[in-house]
Amino acid sequence: MGGSLPKMYATSREKFSEEAPEEMPVSDMLVDSFGRLHTYLRISLTERCNLRCQYCMPAEGVELTPSPQVLSQNEIIRLANLFVSSGVDKIRLTGGEPTIRKDIEEICLQLSGLKGLKTLAITTNGITLARKLPKLKECGLSSLNISLDTLIPAKFEFMTRRKGHERVLESINAAIELGYNPVKVNCVVMRGFNDDEICDFVELTRDKPINVRFIEFMPFDGNVWNVKKLVPYSEMLDTVVKQFTQLKRIQDHPTETAKNFRIDGHQGTVSFITSMTEHFCAGCNRLRLLADGNFKVCLFGPSEIAFSPFPLSGLKSQIVTAMHCSYGNFLSQVKRKKASHAGMFDIANTPNRPMVHIGG
Ligand code: 5AD
Ligand code: SF4
Repeated sequence: MGGSLPKMYATSREKFSEEAPEEMPVSDMLVDSFGRLHTYLRISLTERCNLRCQYCMPAEGVELTPSPQVLSQNEIIRLANLFVSSGVDKIRLTGGEPTIRKDIEEICLQLSGLKGLKTLAITTNGITLARKLPKLKECGLSSLNISLDTLIPAKFEFMTRRKGHERVLESINAAIELGYNPVKVNCVVMRGFNDDEICDFVELTRDKPINVRFIEFMPFDGNVWNVKKLVPYSEMLDTVVKQFTQLKRIQDHPTETAKNFRIDGHQGTVSFITSMTEHFCAGCNRLRLLADGNFKVCLFGPSEIAFSPFPLSGLKSQIVTAMHCSYGNFLSQVKRKKASHAGMFDIANTPNRPMVHIGG
């Protein structure tokens, strides 16, 4: 498979070998050299998206992996099964926009049936979710993050370069009605765009079981990141505390990436994802499988392991061999994971991928 990754991305593809994984106890397979146990796998189902968010997608669009090279349903399930057998207990479906994948229901059904999997989550832009959610819930989808960066329709259109604000709100309400609790709402905060709406978002948590997640703007290829557009956690927190004086920190789990807060009398909660100003790499338990089958151990680390060779239809036995051999390679990559990311300025200057390729 390989050929789809433009040369500019650093990759370990040249070193790819078909060797079987070394013998190691299952319990150690996903532990890296810093003792971090990786129990959370994010799987990007597609690089396509029905929106064009400025912080995620370069204005000129992105080069898409040819469809035959995108992981098939069968490959996803079998790879996921390997990871779950090694200790992964949470899978999140990402994209692009995962709900535009036609076989998403079947994928959810199969994944939720994997023995040992406790949580099957999705990160979605909510454009088509309201209609699909009842079935997805039946298929085992247990947790939802819906992206919404503004409460003002015209701003939504500016940021996403598409219409659809009303549909996202409908999806959030549909999720609440179906009993998802909390319904997580991802809000990337950008100075001059939506930093004036922070308290309006917090207000949503008063009567609804929504967890609003304010995310620091992160640099990815093609998103014209600039430190001036970043609203640091400390500043967001000040803004919230001024209006919601009852804001109280919740005790977080060590692998928790968000800093979580509650407000007396509010049904919902408020969180901050501080990847830039206070990274949480020490507790990182995440791995990423990209839609083209490449594997990433760090969102900000440019190195990737190729899922290779690309299986040709009709060569089913070879697929199994290749997958298991690649899995050994994936595991080696986990062992080589770095202690932390390089810091926002280095990240901004290192070629990686646009976010729409990596998946939230
Ligand atoms: N900075 C922060 N978060 C981002 N996301 C996408 N691009 C960025 C970025 N540059 C997150 C959004 C979205 C999810 C798919 O990924 O929260 O909800
Ligand atoms: Fe699509 Fe999500 Fe990226 Fe927006 S952030 S362009 S909705 S993948």
